[in-house]
Amino acid sequence: MDLWPDRPSRRSLLAAALAAGAFPALLRHVLAAEVPRFDLGVASGTPRPDSVVLWTRLTGDDLPDEVPVRWELAHDERFTRLASRGSFIAQASSAHSVHAEAAGLEPARSYWYRFTALGQQSAAGRTRTAPAPDAAVDSLRFAIASCQRWDHGHWAAWRHLATEPLDLVLFLGDYIYEYPLLPSAVRLHRGGWARTLDGYRDRHAQYKSDPALQAAHAACPWLVVWDDHEVENDYAGLQGERLQDGFEAQRAAAYQAWWEHMPMPMSARPRGPDLRIVGRLDWGRLARLHLIDHRQYRDPQACPRPGRGGSNTVRLKDCPALDDPRRSLLGWEQERWLAEGWSLDRPWNLLAQQTLMARFETQDRQGDSLRWTDGWDGYAASRQRLLQTVADRRVPGPVVLSGDVHAHYVADLKADFDDARGEVVATEFCGTSISSRGGAQSRVDAALALNPHLHYGRSDQRGAVSFTLAPQQLQARLLTVDDPTDAASTVRVAAGFRVDARRPGAQRA
Ligand SMILES: [Fe+2]
Repeated sequence: MDLWPDRPSRRSLLAAALAAGAFPALLRHVLAAEVPRFDLGVASGTPRPDSVVLWTRLTGDDLPDEVPVRWELAHDERFTRLASRGSFIAQASSAHSVHAEAAGLEPARSYWYRFTALGQQSAAGRTRTAPAPDAAVDSLRFAIASCQRWDHGHWAAWRHLATEPLDLVLFLGDYIYEYPLLPSAVRLHRGGWARTLDGYRDRHAQYKSDPALQAAHAACPWLVVWDDHEVENDYAGLQGERLQDGFEAQRAAAYQAWWEHMPMPMSARPRGPDLRIVGRLDWGRLARLHLIDHRQYRDPQACPRPGRGGSNTVRLKDCPALDDPRRSLLGWEQERWLAEGWSLDRPWNLLAQQTLMARFETQDRQGDSLRWTDGWDGYAASRQRLLQTVADRRVPGPVVLSGDVHAHYVADLKADFDDARGEVVATEFCGTSISSRGGAQSRVDAALALNPHLHYGRSDQRGAVSFTLAPQQLQARLLTVDDPTDAASTVRVAAGFRVDARRPGAQRA
């Protein structure tokens, strides 16, 4: 498709300028017209049965404080049958981002959308509304993805996912990384540490410049949650990893830039250092999706290194706080919100969240159990409360979707992981990273032997997971990229699993 179908040629504009005898003013205009305005692509998100959020961000250093942007939403790819249209004032205070909400739409429909501003037209994106809450739905096709570290590789996984007929992408965190330029990287981060509003904005803009990511955003609506690197490695609530002063302002800047670059509604706009990403979406009678946040409301990690915040790997017997029931990964309010909101009359409940929920036992040379304190293992009582509620209420089809650890894991979840014969109460699919490097596979192999509830573990694969959900069964395809340093790499299915709606636990497909 022509990206700029309405754009006059530079030569014809110059000729017109000369003919009009108004060269200086018109030359400025002509040169300005050459600045691409939609360089960061388009996106849609937060699909509802009657609405969807349409996103873009205008580019160029010469933008006035306010720029009117028109948007169109059509039933067809050629925009011959418009369903809705409107305008949005992009403001400098929000980095000229657009968060238009197309309302009054029909449920379970595909639409195409595009934007026009400053004489230029954006590429078109495809989006889709959710089914009506009481509609019978045969299937939901979706993918989970996380951890797209720019300087670790290219994003062939996104290029592949853009070609799959997905209803939805669930992005589970680490959309950007805050790290500075590393000279040895596959491709270079622009600038130093992202810690200020300008720094975070520039990092988001750099990531959004990737054509594979733009294609994936333009292909279907996304639901997005974050993890730590959208702000800073291993932060916890209002505590930075370095216990530094001023972290609240840093978090506010990071959340503001994150909201500006995500297809989130205006109503989600952050207030100071707070931004609510927790939410629910019913996909007809088929499934309820729950989106949770384990960064903003958590207690600090247990047993940190001296003088530091953030994660640690500790011996279980040396750190009783790991099991302290007063600590929470989600915060008490969110724990209650989640416990009260499981759907009991749909076959599936999908929990979109950040990190591996399955117990991940590793041992030191003396055979002592080790725990990594940043994940669910660092908040074992919080996990136990969640899974016990799922078991007690007989929550139908609970499937936990995770990212963060840069490895594919497929797991059976239990209220008591120490009981090898204990009841399986939920299933987990932890998707590997789009590009961020994983740890040693030898360590994962050792862990597979110690954790019989893990069916699969591969830290040496980059990719994502693609799912087909039907009333009776969930099918999962674990995707892997042959060469993460090659933007055109082949993407293959590394393994397939299925889950039966009436029986928690993963089975090889
Ligand atoms: Fe990550």
